[in-house]
Amino acid sequence: MSNLIAISEDFNWPAFQRVQKLLYTAITVQGYRDVRLDFSGLRKAFPNGFVPLIVLVDQYRKQSGIEFDVVLPQDEACRRSILDANYVAYLHPKLELPLSDKANALHQFSDDSSLNDLINKQIHQILERATYAEGVLQSFEWALNEIAGNVLVHSGVEHGWMQVVVHPSTHHMAIAVADGGTGIPETIRSVYPQFAKDEDAIAHALKEGITSRPDFGQGKGLTGTLQIVKINKGGRLAIHSFKGRVEWLNDRMEIKGDFPPFPGAFVDIQLNTAEPIEIEKALWGSAPGFPFNESLYGSGLPIGQMRMALANEASGFGNRITGLKIRNKIENLLVSAPNDVLEIDFSGVELIASSFADEVFGKLALTLGFVGFGSRVRFININKFCRGIIDDVVQSRIVQSRTSQNGQ
Ligand SMILES: Nc1ncnc2c1ncn2[C@@H]1O[C@H](COP(=O)(O)OP(=O)(O)OP(=O)(O)O)[C@@H](O)[C@H]1O
Ligand SMILES: [Mg+2]
Repeated sequence: MSNLIAISEDFNWPAFQRVQKLLYTAITVQGYRDVRLDFSGLRKAFPNGFVPLIVLVDQYRKQSGIEFDVVLPQDEACRRSILDANYVAYLHPKLELPLSDKANALHQFSDDSSLNDLINKQIHQILERATYAEGVLQSFEWALNEIAGNVLVHSGVEHGWMQVVVHPSTHHMAIAVADGGTGIPETIRSVYPQFAKDEDAIAHALKEGITSRPDFGQGKGLTGTLQIVKINKGGRLAIHSFKGRVEWLNDRMEIKGDFPPFPGAFVDIQLNTAEPIEIEKALWGSAPGFPFNESLYGSGLPIGQMRMALANEASGFGNRITGLKIRNKIENLLVSAPNDVLEIDFSGVELIASSFADEVFGKLALTLGFVGFGSRVRFININKFCRGIIDDVVQSRIVQSRTSQNGQ
């Protein structure tokens, strides 16, 4: 007989904790071997509910041979969202569902090259989803590399999970990274055995210079991430590992014990994308050495120059939706590298629609102003036709802004 666990609420961190307790009772106390996770009444899915649940279920399955199956939500949009996020595929692998490669889905990584590819994909995703206050993108890239890199270096297991979700309307970014490995308390106690309580060991790991592998690391990853979150107004960080949980929320740190234990490490970062982050202040006076704008858009170019090959950014240039994504990217690149010039390389692009051109370049000229647009954005390998379209939409926008300034 299988035990039924009904989840009919917003599935976020507190809901996960409730389900974790129910699973513990059913499996460890009552001895059930089969569990049905019933999401039929699910209202909304959140990474900080599903990501730890997937790690927990994976552990129960691998270590104790427990079988899980899933009842899908009745609500169509909700069902789609948990399928698209890969949650069902990971919770119920026997269904052999194809994994979505959408960047905002949950993904596994297992080595540095799969991690690098995934992080680059995440950067492209978030670059085109929204625009961000100064320092947010660099902070995101730095923290994600550090936290996910920790899984490869410290967890002792073959793979970790990562999900990044951006909500442009609420200026909110959620980053969830988890593994089902050794856990932070145990690695810390291998060097600092005095921290008997898991939560105290995690709090110690968050201090500057604390590392269990002094041969390898400098103890900067967790503490730098905490600084970033502290500087970002509305930022949050929660770390959960075995019987400890440490959380930075509403300008204060909460350190507490928790039961049942979470078998691995789960790091939940939430950023307010509209609030600037002074990254030098967070990271000991230095900005990251080789940020994404240089690695993805500046490689092989002189300092101060970035290049975007338009043909690589989309498969067609005919509508405003694509235009908005590309303009977001351009604005983000210009904000991330305020002294750089961005070259837009039109090689391979024969034709663009006026609506696309207006959405990207017309509106960009409005925000940057005539001089800013002319000095920070350059076009290379552009044909006469595309140049004519861009000239036309930029001129119309400039006329429009003058007219509205004059109150006509
Ligand atoms: N996913 C994890 N699993 C197990 N232990 C972890 C994990 N993440 C962090 N830790 C522990 O927390 C310590 C501090 O992590 P932190 O990222 O701050 O420093 P580091 O990785 O040791 O060094 P650096 O980040 O400078 O390379 C680690 O040394 C390790 O003991
Ligand atoms: Mg680290």
